[in-house]
Amino acid sequence: MVSTPDGTGRFAGQVVAITGAGGALARATAVRLAAEGAKLALFDRDTEKLAETAALCPGALTVPGDVTSAADMAAFAEATQAAFGPAHKLVAAAGILGKAGPAIEMEEEMWDRVFAINVKGAWLAARAFIPQIRTHGAGAVVLFSSTAGVMGSPTLSAYSASKGAVSLLTRSLALNHAAENIRVNCVCPGTIDSPMSDSSFDMAGTGAARDAREAMMLAKIPMGRFGLPAEVADAVLYLLSDSAAYTSGVALPVDGARLA
Ligand SMILES: NC(=O)c1ccc[n+]([C@@H]2O[C@H](COP(=O)([O-])OP(=O)(O)OC[C@H]3O[C@@H](n4cnc5c(N)ncnc54)[C@H](O)[C@@H]3O)[C@@H](O)[C@H]2O)c1
Repeated sequence: MVSTPDGTGRFAGQVVAITGAGGALARATAVRLAAEGAKLALFDRDTEKLAETAALCPGALTVPGDVTSAADMAAFAEATQAAFGPAHKLVAAAGILGKAGPAIEMEEEMWDRVFAINVKGAWLAARAFIPQIRTHGAGAVVLFSSTAGVMGSPTLSAYSASKGAVSLLTRSLALNHAAENIRVNCVCPGTIDSPMSDSSFDMAGTGAARDAREAMMLAKIPMGRFGLPAEVADAVLYLLSDSAAYTSGVALPVDGARLA
């Protein structure tokens, strides 16, 4: 645990809402925040994975729901406030890859679904929680973009476009709320050792085809290895913390120098 001079965690007593909390990267983030004293409100549509994360974070509130539903997000915000008081911070991590394929071959329904979860979901979360955050006179939000939100992707075209949108939503929110001392940043993870990366390798096929995709992705990383969920969590905690007090509107790569 990183401690403050009085021996408490950096996030002691702070209420942090997390979407996509059943996922690998949000779970690693939640565990670290809990260890540093945060009170966590966790949201995911997958109730089993949500419960698994909550089991690692004593005292956490769990709220099942869909990030694309304004009603579900409002219910999450209300439940958070009822349990702990207004949120100080928000982490919007829910996201999906969608299907692989060139942009013009993407099914319309899939394109809409990827944008609804990755972009609208992040916007709905910000819309629901920033009014709570502003009651504290300061706060922080971290959205989840991707290196695929900076570079184009020949295969994950809807995903890449949606993450580019998240990076710019981050900047607009940062401008909207800078004068209120609410900082808004995003992380851009590269290929992280996680089920989502595994499923992106699986899109190449099975056996040798899958292995070749994994090896190709690995070869693109200057540091020569995939990242760890905990390494993304460390970046998120930095952006949420007072150590980043003058940092807002940033899309921080956590990618082993992939974007360098
Ligand atoms: N894993 C990686 O390598 C990687 C790389 C770059 C960016 N990212 C981004 O990081 C974030 C977290 O990724 P992860 O690896 O933890 O993925 P994950 O699939 O493990 O977790 C995503 C979570 O979001 C939840 N979710 C999806 N749609 C939802 C919806 N409509 N409503 C509520 N919850 C929903 C899922 O149930 C899941 O628990 C995502 O936004 C992803 O795009 C991941």
